[in-house]
Amino acid sequence: MAMNQVYFFKNFLKDRNVAAIAETSQSTIRKILRKIDFTKDLVVVEYGPGTGVCSLPVLARLSPNSRFIAIEANADFARQLRTVKDPRLTVVEGDARDIEAILKNLDLPAADIVISSIPFTFFPPATRRQLVASTASVINPGGAFLVYQYSPLMKGYLEEAFPKVRLSFSPLNIPAIFIMEARKTA
Ligand SMILES: C[S@@+](CC[C@H](N)C(=O)[O-])C[C@H]1O[C@@H](n2cnc3c(N)ncnc32)[C@H](O)[C@@H]1O
Repeated sequence: MAMNQVYFFKNFLKDRNVAAIAETSQSTIRKILRKIDFTKDLVVVEYGPGTGVCSLPVLARLSPNSRFIAIEANADFARQLRTVKDPRLTVVEGDARDIEAILKNLDLPAADIVISSIPFTFFPPATRRQLVASTASVINPGGAFLVYQYSPLMKGYLEEAFPKVRLSFSPLNIPAIFIMEARKTA
């Protein structure tokens, strides 16, 4: 088992909001990243980066003038991500539910892509709806909210706030995972 997986599992035991026993597989991450046009300068936000299993491949593909804002509630994970020295990366130890205030504090008017793996299932319905609405409000036209989870639960909530939502499935993950792509009209 890779070092990061052991570290991830220890944090799962300490913090119920980590909500997964293992990091997402690289095969799933590649499926998610195919939905992003990396030829453009982008503002990318990630909710719940954990050990950076998705963040590092995103940084590897992002253009030099892009920005990447990682919002992580777990202090250990946030501290570990801060060891990644990349001028495009800003790590915020905080709650995804504060997305609007977080972007405002960073003087960023909007995001092109928001990626999320936080456990929406733990939130009550009103909080799920509120977070989807505030995320939709900060995404630029043509941009997308990419949600991956063990359940397709969020599809209906995403359809309330985005005109187009696509659901796909990644079986090469433990457990298998759903990927939801909610896109704003360009
Ligand atoms: C299922 S893990 C996914 C980690 C990693 N992105 C991956 O794909 O393996 C969920 C992550 O979301 C973080 N998290 C949970 N609730 C959060 C919230 N409200 N805001 C920001 N991060 C949160 C957890 O600490 C954890 O790192």
